Amino acid sequence: MLDSYQIMRKKMDGQKITMMTAYDYFMAKILQEGGIDMILVGDSLANVVLGRPSTRDIGMQEMLLFVQAVHQGAPQTHIVADMPWMSDHTVQDGLKNAEQLSKAGASSVKMEGARYDVIHAVTSQVCPVVGHLGLTPQTATDFKQRGKSPEDAAEIVSQARQVMQAGAFCIVLEHIPSDLGRQISEEVAIPTIGIGAGDQCDGQVLVCYDALGLNSGKLPPFVKKFANLHQHALQGVQEYCKWVQKAQ
Ligand code: KIV
Repeated sequence: MLDSYQIMRKKMDGQKITMMTAYDYFMAKILQEGGIDMILVGDSLANVVLGRPSTRDIGMQEMLLFVQAVHQGAPQTHIVADMPWMSDHTVQDGLKNAEQLSKAGASSVKMEGARYDVIHAVTSQVCPVVGHLGLTPQTATDFKQRGKSPEDAAEIVSQARQVMQAGAFCIVLEHIPSDLGRQISEEVAIPTIGIGAGDQCDGQVLVCYDALGLNSGKLPPFVKKFANLHQHALQGVQEYCKWVQKAQ
């Protein structure tokens, strides 16, 4: 399993970092077998697993269950657990909740936004921390690209520097212009993991159901599909129905 230092080393060695979400035992097993560097148990599970409207709609107790399942399936892989909405809003809560996620099998935790004091406390007392800047869905009121104006871009660059100084070992950059993704990747010493942030980031992350094509609905513009699980699963179900019905 890669630890946070080995992940940072990859940037220094010019090696790209691979990350994908997983929420359950079997998907985690597949990602580990496929050689992924990091698995993210994202709060996107509120949407894609539980069918809830917002990534805010997942609590700590539920998150712990999914982290345990992923850890069971991929015990040799670095697992990043998202800190659910409000679970990191004070240093005290951040420390307590990061510790629980860590005990459940997370190698590190991810926090959205400029939570410098909590990042610093968690990284020095509990476990490594991943930052998340650009579009941060827990607080977003729309899903438009961030960092388009020079002022917004400068703000995200400044946040990235401060997230690094607070002690994060890498930063997810979501839905920002490619040039800004490249600029931040050049300016900060820690790895950047992009999702809709261009191909000059130090690594990439995607939601597994989007990347593997299980989700046949409308996808964000930056998603690239690497398989068509929806088609295969649908065909399998139809063949199963025919097989059962023929036996009557
Ligand atoms: O929850 C999630 O899946 C994420 C990714 C979009 C980076 O945070």
